[in-house]
Amino acid sequence: MGEKSWETLEGACYGCKKCRLWETRHNVVIGKGNKNADIMFIGEGPGQQEDLQGLPFVGPAGQLLDKMLSAIDLSIDDVYIANIVKCRPPGNRDPHEDEQEACLNYLRYQLLLVKPRIIVCLGRIAAMAIISPTFRITKQRGEWVERKGYWITATFHPSALLRDESKKRPAWEDFKSIQKKLLELKQNEL
Ligand code: URA
Repeated sequence: MGEKSWETLEGACYGCKKCRLWETRHNVVIGKGNKNADIMFIGEGPGQQEDLQGLPFVGPAGQLLDKMLSAIDLSIDDVYIANIVKCRPPGNRDPHEDEQEACLNYLRYQLLLVKPRIIVCLGRIAAMAIISPTFRITKQRGEWVERKGYWITATFHPSALLRDESKKRPAWEDFKSIQKKLLELKQNEL
């Protein structure tokens, strides 16, 4: 694709018909936040509100994510947020494997543009796509792997926390570990 640019990515995404999801989308949801952030959060795919507004994590899950970020002293200006698929799967079903496959190159391109130090997968779909197809979110959340210069971890999806209160404490531990990793990386730069 030659020299990488946001314009190239956006142009490709807005016209994308690589999988069936374009037929039912209202908006392509590329990302939001700081395009030079040290930390990138990756969710599953747009929900209803996200599809209507063209922005990720603006519904109830997004409100919880904002709160968890502020609890570790981060705001949307410190992070970049995207999804595995950029168009809403109808009825909020899981994105199919061929849909994820069709969309992942856009995310790879986006990672090269943002160049985060840390990638946080939100939920099992993102963790399976980014870390390992056999990833078990309940068992392996909070673990760190270093790959291709990125520090990568996964935690529960905020929607899972809204459905099941008992997941909030472990998710909070994961967020504290993310804060610690970010501090460590920054200190090593000094
Ligand atoms: N859930 C996701 O995985 N992504 C969003 O953007 C919103 C809800």
